[in-house]
Amino acid sequence: MTTFRIEPSHNARPADEREVILANPGFGRHFTDHMVSVLFDRDQGWHDPAVVPYGPITLDPATNFIHYGQAIFEGMKAYKHADGHIRTFRPMKNAERFRSSARRLAMPEIPAELFIESLVQLAAIDGDWVPADPEKSLYLRPFMFSTEVGLGVKPADAYQYLLIASPAGAYFPRGVAPVSVWLTPDYVRAAVGGTGEAKCAGNYAASLIAQAEASLHGCDQVVWLDAKEHEWVEEMGGMNLFFVFGTGDSARLVTPPLSGSLLPGVTRDSILIMARQDLGIPVAEEPISVDQWKRGAQSGEISEVFACGTAAVITPVGEVKSAQGAWTVADGGAGPITMRLRNALLGVQNGQDPDKHAWMFELA
Ligand code: COI
Repeated sequence: MTTFRIEPSHNARPADEREVILANPGFGRHFTDHMVSVLFDRDQGWHDPAVVPYGPITLDPATNFIHYGQAIFEGMKAYKHADGHIRTFRPMKNAERFRSSARRLAMPEIPAELFIESLVQLAAIDGDWVPADPEKSLYLRPFMFSTEVGLGVKPADAYQYLLIASPAGAYFPRGVAPVSVWLTPDYVRAAVGGTGEAKCAGNYAASLIAQAEASLHGCDQVVWLDAKEHEWVEEMGGMNLFFVFGTGDSARLVTPPLSGSLLPGVTRDSILIMARQDLGIPVAEEPISVDQWKRGAQSGEISEVFACGTAAVITPVGEVKSAQGAWTVADGGAGPITMRLRNALLGVQNGQDPDKHAWMFELA
C-alpha cells in the first residue's frame, strides 16, 4: 500500500461552522479542509502522494491543460451509515472509467488501488464532513490534468491527480421535482470516435451553449440527439436517460445503448441491474427516436422518463420541447417506477436497505 505524506490543515473549520454548512450544503459550494494530491511524470511515474490542506494551486500560464484541455474527472459520493462507518458506492467502476477516460485523452492511467486509497485517505482526515442525514452525502471529485509547461500540442509528460470533496444536498434546486427538457436541433454532445465516452472537461464546456439554448426555451436541461441523424436520443445534460414503457406489472425499462458516444454511467449500470434482478422490471438497451418519444408520450405507451447520474441520482423528466413540438410525459409528475428505483438505489447507498450486490465500499 502506498504511504501518503500527511500535512494537516492549520485552518480546519471548527465543528460549529462545519455543522452550519452541513445543514444546508447545496451542491459544490463548500469544500472540506483537505485534498489529496499525487504527481506523475514520465521519469518517476506516480509519486509524492500526499494529503494536504485544501487550497489554491499555482500554475504557470503556459501549463498545457489550460490551453489544450487534457483534463478528466469523476464524481462519487460518500455516505455516513447508521453504524458510524463511511461508505462509497462502486468505486471500482469509477476507478476503471477514470483510467479509460485517461487513455482516450492520452494521459497516464492511475492504478485503481491508488485511486481507491486516495478516497480512503481523504475520508480518514475529513470524515466529519460526511453528513449523517440520509438525504445528503459528501460528493467526491477526483480529477487529473496535465501540468507540463509549454505550448506544443502533444501528450504532456507531467500530470497532477487531485481529490477534493464537497458536502452535497440535492443537485437540482427543486430536488426530485420533474425537469423540463429541450431537444437541441443545433448542437451535438459527441460523435462515435470522439470523446463522448470519456468524462473529460471539454465535453462539459461544449455542452454549455446548448444548456443556455435550453434555458432560452424555458427548459431546465438540454437533451442530446445523435450526431449523424439528429434523431436518436442520447443523454440529458451530463446524465443518462431511461424510458418506462407501459405501467404496473407490464412496465418495462428502456435506455439508449452505449453506442460509442454516450457516457457509461455508474448509476445507469446500477439501475439496469437493480430493475432486472431486484425489482423484476424487464430492461432493454435500445435506441429511442424523438418521434417514438413524442408518439409514445401522446399515446400513453411511454408512462415515465427519468435521467440518472451520481450527482442528482434519479430525476424525472416531465415536459419536453423540441423542433417537432412540445409534449408532456404522462401528467408531468414523478412516476411510480421512477420513485421506486430512486428509493431502492438511495436505500442501498445510504445504508437503510441491504446491500445485496456488495456495491458499498467501506472508506472509514
Ligand atoms: C453526475 O451526475 O454525477 C455528473 O456527472 C454531473 C456532474 C458533472 C455535476
